[in-house]
Amino acid sequence: MEEIRIAVIGHGFMGHEHEKMLSDFPGIRLVGFADRDPSQLDDVRPGLKRYESDEALIHDPDVDTVLIAANNNQHHDLVIAAAKAGKNIICEKPVAMSVAQLDEMERVAKECGVTFTVHHQRRFDPDFQTAKNIYDSGTLGDVYLVKSSVYGFNGNMHDWHVYKSEGGGMLYDWGVHLIDQILWMFPGVKVQTVYADVRNVINKEVDDYFKILLRLSNHVTAEIELGTYLLTDKAQDKWFERHWLLSGNRGTAYLDGFEPEGKIVRTTHLLTNVQGERTMTAAGPTRSFGPPPAGTLVTEPIEIATTTHADYFKNYCKAAHGEEPFLVKIPETRRVLKLMDAVRESGRTGRTVDFES
Ligand SMILES: NC(=O)c1ccc[n+]([C@@H]2O[C@H](COP(=O)([O-])OP(=O)(O)OC[C@H]3O[C@@H](n4cnc5c(N)ncnc54)[C@H](O)[C@@H]3O)[C@@H](O)[C@H]2O)c1
Repeated sequence: MEEIRIAVIGHGFMGHEHEKMLSDFPGIRLVGFADRDPSQLDDVRPGLKRYESDEALIHDPDVDTVLIAANNNQHHDLVIAAAKAGKNIICEKPVAMSVAQLDEMERVAKECGVTFTVHHQRRFDPDFQTAKNIYDSGTLGDVYLVKSSVYGFNGNMHDWHVYKSEGGGMLYDWGVHLIDQILWMFPGVKVQTVYADVRNVINKEVDDYFKILLRLSNHVTAEIELGTYLLTDKAQDKWFERHWLLSGNRGTAYLDGFEPEGKIVRTTHLLTNVQGERTMTAAGPTRSFGPPPAGTLVTEPIEIATTTHADYFKNYCKAAHGEEPFLVKIPETRRVLKLMDAVRESGRTGRTVDFES
């Protein structure tokens, strides 16, 4: 089968990740890189092209797919230029800075007859995939709560990520992934309402903390929380935390870390209407928060998913050869952008926003 020949615009943090991933990827030939800052090309691997300009890359007949890994505010113009040159496109997330931009990008891609998809590889994060598998298995019973959280402790937002005009801020950065994961977790489910607290804790221009509550039509409330500046004196290896909490009427799942560890605490029958025993605690005597009757809880290990980010490009290869659909479809990315608009509106007004009725 013919190799897919990919060239990448932007040889910064993510450009280097793509270089590592695609340099020796079955079915893909990585052709080279362009960057508006020529010094960024100094360490491009031998054998790969270093283009003099984005235009040179986009018009190179050796290239059939352009992967855009430049700053967020560059995606719109670069996608349109690549489409007009007849190249298929993979764009980094967030696909665009606004729904209006995305509408135009999609229209031009369609007119030019090129494929257009977005790098949402975090759909293959093992922590997320494990959480999704737990939900899908039904083992927790009627699930009412899914909480996805990411915490950083050093307040380190850097480079262009601190500037609004460049598409900075954590909503555009991690928020896009975390929202995309929740929407991907529940196919066919509507987001009825959105409530959000969005803050600039230490950054002047951009958000660096958010809590988002999504009321879903499957009766789950999904909570997404990200903080970049939650101070801690934990050990070095705890400077970046990832957690999932899923709870239903038959069990609760705890999942911690990007290479997750976790457990399910489950009952074999509903724990409603058991006689509360009077128990003495540090808070005083309690009946509601005493221990459950002996023998009613079982702790089970979790089977951890083995998905990796390479799965994204495996799908890309198959989809490019027409063997399966592209994993990430543009209407899905539009829904994420619209949801982020609702998040911002709720953050601004302090009110719950109706989303999909
Ligand atoms: N999918 C993911 O997990 C993930 C992770 C990190 C970043 N990203 C995305 O990747 C993109 C790049 O982010 P980054 O963290 O690598 O930033 P970065 O600043 O490290 O790298 C961006 C590079 O693009 C270059 N650039 C900017 N505009 C350009 C243009 N018009 N033409 C050519 N080169 C241009 C810059 O000079 C820089 O070298 C962003 O859209 C970001 O959201 C995705």
